[in-house]
Amino acid sequence: MMAKKVLHSLTLNGEQVDVATPSGATLLETLREDLRVLSSKRGCNQGVCGACTLLVDGKPVRACLTLTARCEGHEIQTVDGMGEDHVMATLQRHMVESGGVQCGFCTGGVLISARELLAEDPMPSREAVKTALSGNVCRCTGYRTIVDAVVGAAEELAQ
Ligand code: FES
Ligand code: FES
Repeated sequence: MMAKKVLHSLTLNGEQVDVATPSGATLLETLREDLRVLSSKRGCNQGVCGACTLLVDGKPVRACLTLTARCEGHEIQTVDGMGEDHVMATLQRHMVESGGVQCGFCTGGVLISARELLAEDPMPSREAVKTALSGNVCRCTGYRTIVDAVVGAAEELAQ
């Protein structure tokens, strides 16, 4: 039997969006299945891999652990809605140039976590980058190129 749908009014990437989503849906389910916003990936669906990470009121959260109903009245930002953000654009460029993007499945979540790190610590050490990204699993890169990208972006932004 299909779950009953409930209407929610969300603020997504600066726009008001009304969406009917199953009662009890997570934000990840609502975004991907009802709104077809696919930049937050469904990996573990248990809060472990970080692939679904996005911002709620400017703070990184796991969309797979966040109920859509709890997001009414809060600002939701996905990585594809941050194209105007200079820090994010710089991080994205360094990720591509360093080889930190391979299959790309983890990349959105990594970028959100890295963006948050640079907001708090504009010149992080490699160790600080590794710690900040420890909740983002990448099966492809071995992480070195991702750390290179974040450190390189921080150095460029500091100039
Ligand atoms: S899909 Fe949300 S943490 Fe893995
Ligand atoms: S680039 Fe493939 S999982 Fe990270």
